[in-house]
Amino acid sequence: MITVRAHSNIALIKYWGKRDAALKLPLNGSISLTLDQLYTETRLGYDPSLRRDQLFLNGEPASESMRQRVSGFLDLLRSHFGFQHFAEVHSHNSFPTGAGLASSASAFAALALAATTAQGLQLAPAEVSRWARQGSGSACRSLFGGFVEWRAGERPDGQDSFAQPLEIAWPVQMLVLVLQQQHKAVGSGDGMARTVASSPLYPGWLASIEADLADMRASLQAQDFEAVGSLMEHNALKMHASALAARPAVLYWQPETLAILHLIWQLRAEGHACYATLDAGPNVKVLLPPASPAMQQTPATQQTIERLIAHPAVQQHFLCQMGPAAQILEPNP
Ligand code: PMV
Repeated sequence: MITVRAHSNIALIKYWGKRDAALKLPLNGSISLTLDQLYTETRLGYDPSLRRDQLFLNGEPASESMRQRVSGFLDLLRSHFGFQHFAEVHSHNSFPTGAGLASSASAFAALALAATTAQGLQLAPAEVSRWARQGSGSACRSLFGGFVEWRAGERPDGQDSFAQPLEIAWPVQMLVLVLQQQHKAVGSGDGMARTVASSPLYPGWLASIEADLADMRASLQAQDFEAVGSLMEHNALKMHASALAARPAVLYWQPETLAILHLIWQLRAEGHACYATLDAGPNVKVLLPPASPAMQQTPATQQTIERLIAHPAVQQHFLCQMGPAAQILEPNP
């Protein structure tokens, strides 16, 4: 049995749209931040006596569709590395699954690392990232800590499409506001496929991405909070605008989502430093300035956090710092 932990990541510049659905190759590059509080721990072992893969999620047998998705991913590794046995997989999330908190990112990053390690392979992180990408695109970024860039790549076989750390040590914080814990109606895969196929705004999204990526790299290097935050918020709203113009429309927001967005804008108008980003679900993630070196909140950030979590729409929150790379916990490496 191998146990690994991989942290979730939230994109500052979003991945939205695939050029190859089977290989999960993106139409655009993306930049993310790995979060310390949101993670998946996965324990995996191959067992010659098993007739099929088994999956337990948070201690319960997983749904058949989830089991099949995991099993399909393990099939890719088995056929590539010439390995035959089925696996028993136990996965625990530190946060609600499937509510737009990037559970598939941490889950497939953990699975890729656990499954290859349990086969006796010691792959370079970039190679594990490439495998994780085939489980869920955004999972390729969760192999690394801090700020991470996934370059879209150009090759049809996807060999140049994997994530790499940006090596920027700037401890901004992200407050994850959970507004609803239900599973989302349209998964990210379907949402982006529908947007690519039918949204007249999608070409505008794609045409603007290289500039957003370049601006984001430069603003992160400069540690310019307003520049990073306003670009992050703009990029998320642009992604959701492209989805909303799909036919039929893809809308992930609930009334609570909009209420929090307005609160963030109101707080900014009052001088609070906070910016929003949203993924394929109703929850809102808020970028906040770094805490002091002793991890004390500045009084200003403390006030921002209190105003946000006091809103009645907020059911649960996670105040996250920059998270580490995916790691093997057991056996002790
Ligand atoms: O990797 P997926 O299929 O869960 O897609 C992630 C899509 C977004 O969360 C909306 C954007 C991103 O880059 O994480």
